Amino acid sequence: TALKIGMIPADGIGKEVLPAAQRVLEALGSAIPKPEFIPLLAGWEEFNKNGKALPEETIRVLKEECDSAMFGSVSSPSHKVAGYSSPIVALRKHLDLYANVRPVKAVPIPGQPFFKADMVIVRENTECLYIKKETIETNSDGSKIALATRQITSRASERIGKMAFEIALRRGQERQAATDPHAWWKGEPKVTIVHKSNVLSVTDGLFRESVRSIKEGTDKYDGVKMEEQLVDSMVYRMFREPEIFDVAVAPNLYGDIISDGAAALVGSLGLVPSINAGDDFVMGEPVHGSAPDIEGKNIANPIASIRSAALLLSSLGYIEPAAKINAAVDAVLAEGKYLTPDLGGKSSTTDVTDAILKRL
Ligand code: NAI
Ligand code: MG
Repeated sequence: TALKIGMIPADGIGKEVLPAAQRVLEALGSAIPKPEFIPLLAGWEEFNKNGKALPEETIRVLKEECDSAMFGSVSSPSHKVAGYSSPIVALRKHLDLYANVRPVKAVPIPGQPFFKADMVIVRENTECLYIKKETIETNSDGSKIALATRQITSRASERIGKMAFEIALRRGQERQAATDPHAWWKGEPKVTIVHKSNVLSVTDGLFRESVRSIKEGTDKYDGVKMEEQLVDSMVYRMFREPEIFDVAVAPNLYGDIISDGAAALVGSLGLVPSINAGDDFVMGEPVHGSAPDIEGKNIANPIASIRSAALLLSSLGYIEPAAKINAAVDAVLAEGKYLTPDLGGKSSTTDVTDAILKRL
């Protein structure tokens, strides 16, 4: 059977980096079922052409015909435009992609600062303060009070906790499958629960207990250590000693903040991959946006997109082919000969992709 992957390049450099990921997937040959790429429309340009940022046909094909998907990047305008809403946010909702998974792994690039980061941040994607229930009132003295509701449910916390433990297990297997000189995490698989339940004992307390119950309810995760870190000291320790973290799981807002912060540890936005994952579907997506400042010049770094494809494969169970892709990427970075301008090099998107393909 073929691996049916919906390809949604959307806008800007998404159109340049997604084809690079496709070339890499195609080069894996018989290591994975033959990939079949189904091009799909979405984005700001599509909205301006046909009035829909996320056409129904795209959702239908993803749901009915695809096993997974890859998303490029979208150019969302910063002012409000009638009828427009971000297709990536809508896709997460339509496909119930409740987890945002971001591995942050640093490979030393000659002549550049370097941190021993090799961790995965698993962010809850559906609740917390992002349910956007906000109100504002005026007091009798004219001063104002704004309130936001923060929702934490045991259901959403348990499913994100389960995802974190599954990822920790899989990373353990991946480390055994590949001899990786850049696997800075040397210990047993570990999940760090990020919260602030010393202050928010009810909401963060429920998050913490729900995640803990996942490990405590089974022996499946006996090989995975469980620790906790308050969110503020999490930030501090992540920058002081990133090598002490393996998998970190957090409610939506904390996860948003620590994952962007962690991306600063690897040197360029153009290196950080992600997947949006649910129980039935997974979508790879580079963390960066459409980068209008470099669009159309063939200089966008394709690595975030290529690593997103690897992440997609490993979440579908193709661990060794995924490790192969990452090893090829690591080798090209460590060699330092083929780097795009965001990393101080002079190579094009195509040069870097070719160099990775050669290593494969
Ligand atoms: P951005 O991520 O597009 O760019 C920030 C900076 O990083 C730019 O200087 C850009 O050239 C550079 N950069 C990003 N990716 C790169 C790559 N692969 N190689 C080399 N350099 C890279 O963020 P910005 O400028 O804030 O937003 C631009 C547009 O992207 C906006 O319309 C925004 O709404 C959208 N956006 C979309 C996201 C998505 O599709 N999930 C995420 C973030 C922003
Ligand atoms: Mg963010």
